[in-house]
Amino acid sequence: MSQEQDGYKITLISLHGLIRADEPELGRDADTGGQVKYVLELAAELARKPNVRAVELLTRQIIDERVDESYARVEEPIAEKAKIVRIPFGPKRYLRKEALWPYVEVFVDQTLSHFRRSGLPDVIHGHYADAGLAGAQLARLLHIPYVFTGHSLGRVKRERLSHGKASPESLEKKYHFKTRVEAEELALETAAMVVASTSQEVEQQYELYDHYVPDRMEVIPPGVDLSSFRPPKEEDEVPPIAAEVARFLRDPAKPMIFAMARPDERKNLEMLVRVYGESERLREVANLVLVMGARDDLREIEKAQRNVLLNVLTLIDVYDLYGSVAYPKAHQPSDVPDLYRLAAQNRGVFVNPAMTEPFGLTLLEAAGSGLPIVATNDGGPRDIVANCENGLLVDPFDPKEIEHGLLRVLTEPKEWDRWSENGLKGAHAHYSWSTHADRYLRDVTDIVEHSETPVLADVATHRRRRLPEFDRLIVTDLDNTLTGDDEALRELLDRIDRAEHCGFGIATGRRLDDALEVIEKLGLPRPDVLDTSVGTELHYGESLTDDLSWRKQIGHHWRPDEIRDLLGEVEGLFLQTEKEQSEFKISYTRDAEVAPSIAAIRRMLREAGLRAKLVFSLGMYLDVIPVRGGSELSMRHLLYKWGFTPEQVLVAGDSGNDEGMLKGRTLGVVVGNHGPELEPLRRWPRVYFAEGHHARGILEGIDYYQFLDHITIPNDRIDE
Ligand code: GLC
Ligand code: MG
Repeated sequence: MSQEQDGYKITLISLHGLIRADEPELGRDADTGGQVKYVLELAAELARKPNVRAVELLTRQIIDERVDESYARVEEPIAEKAKIVRIPFGPKRYLRKEALWPYVEVFVDQTLSHFRRSGLPDVIHGHYADAGLAGAQLARLLHIPYVFTGHSLGRVKRERLSHGKASPESLEKKYHFKTRVEAEELALETAAMVVASTSQEVEQQYELYDHYVPDRMEVIPPGVDLSSFRPPKEEDEVPPIAAEVARFLRDPAKPMIFAMARPDERKNLEMLVRVYGESERLREVANLVLVMGARDDLREIEKAQRNVLLNVLTLIDVYDLYGSVAYPKAHQPSDVPDLYRLAAQNRGVFVNPAMTEPFGLTLLEAAGSGLPIVATNDGGPRDIVANCENGLLVDPFDPKEIEHGLLRVLTEPKEWDRWSENGLKGAHAHYSWSTHADRYLRDVTDIVEHSETPVLADVATHRRRRLPEFDRLIVTDLDNTLTGDDEALRELLDRIDRAEHCGFGIATGRRLDDALEVIEKLGLPRPDVLDTSVGTELHYGESLTDDLSWRKQIGHHWRPDEIRDLLGEVEGLFLQTEKEQSEFKISYTRDAEVAPSIAAIRRMLREAGLRAKLVFSLGMYLDVIPVRGGSELSMRHLLYKWGFTPEQVLVAGDSGNDEGMLKGRTLGVVVGNHGPELEPLRRWPRVYFAEGHHARGILEGIDYYQFLDHITIPNDRIDE
């Protein structure tokens, strides 16, 4: 494969928050934290490796006065072979991550068109549940190996928050756990590799999922760019942030208990203030310094964060901690290393008491600055303390333990020295991006060469068929168009098979399961596209990937129960068997002798306030489908999604349920054995009426348009 000469192209996806390579605004809000840094650094390091040809990091384009203009740029370089690509989807304005869910499918379709312009990647890697869902869909649609990193997981978060005072309903409303967990399940099911940062994440977090497959889990701790972090030196000048901190404090020379975290309830900052407020000893030996993101106007901050901040401020007042707690309003990215050094200089301690801590980036920054840590006994901190031996783990729900941990670090100077040195050494040895990228690429090579997940592995066909790689597409009805003349059918399949760049689709009135049975019985290849139940369902490829953006829109105004009730009363309409019915299709046979006209039935529905589309075939079949269904619309969606122009698509049919697609701008072929309801199409441009019946008619149509050659359209206009 070409990857061996040129290296891999890797697409990383991280949708929420604010991502930019140039001075990322980390900590600006709840969605712009560790993950943003992670994906930027992963992208940069992967791009440094010789067996990588390109890395693109896909995120959302945001056009909003409240955020910087840089987030509107379509492309931004990260490093020589790595760039950010911003894909517009959903509203232009900035949205918090819980509000992105309705637009994920739009992102998928937009990204398909991005891939069409820039080429397919060899690997897709989704980050967090939202991009996890999007990436999994893309991987399935395109048959590209998939990698997933959860960063934090819905089930874990829901479980933790359930200890709090909020009701399950209010938590659901705020965090959309159901959607999130489903997204995570799909991502896990699709992934050939799941990259976890810590072993606990695998054992206790991913394990909660139905699609947890231990074999596909890899613990690869991320690198931490520690180049700006180092211990303080004698000759260091006093950094600008020192004064910002000092102005809060009566005795700024005291050691610092330093915490730096977004004001997120999960970070447990209120607990820390309480512990400090309750402990006379702690107040005596140290100041508390809280760096809680940056804030302009407290009143304008998002509610959840504001609540945390207000609680912290209230506790400071309640315990009367004025003069011993500092909580600077703002800081520059460059102040961060200075803050750790300040704390190390006075032999302080860095504390992270979060309720859950998937990784704990700040703990490694502290380590790299020679500052010992007290950290929550969870997730990343466990591995960090095990790898580095640079401090103590404490139960974040146990105030006494937090107090004791802090006191030990602050009052045992020999231990302090040991922890400080260990942290410095350990952080560099265990957490480098270069080591991470090497391990990552070793695993990726393995996946690309051997072991995709079952959901993506093709049945052993000779070549991998992928829609974006076709430059033309034949979509044909099944019954009596494709079927009916075996010899012609074989000839047709053979011609399509030899035309490497021609895709093959089936559009049928049958339900998916039923259509598949016929396809198997006839020994047909699995089509690249399956449009079933009269243009209401779209599936792709060998693994029958559901088109979720189509599914999402089709149900508009669809009230099947009421339709069934109403039409059940109508004389001469008989419900077809159960296996002909599907979610978006109600099918009847109609006895023309007694039943009202189609127009009359349409009127009945309208008068009952029910919106639906009626499709009538072969003088006897009546299908009721949603207004947004039907082969004319499903074809239009298909073309748009995969970037085909109508001139690249040939459609063939024989009866009323094919009429919709035949009327489109695509190249139509009506086979000789057609139903009378298609007669009026003779006056339509781009509809060719073949003499030949069944597949013979399709073959005739292919020749008529020279479809597998240089396409010509003799019937572009029909003169009356
Ligand atoms: C197929 C379907 C049937 C439908 C008919 C016309 O035969 O199985 O349910 O009514 O096509 O669309
Ligand atoms: Mg038919």
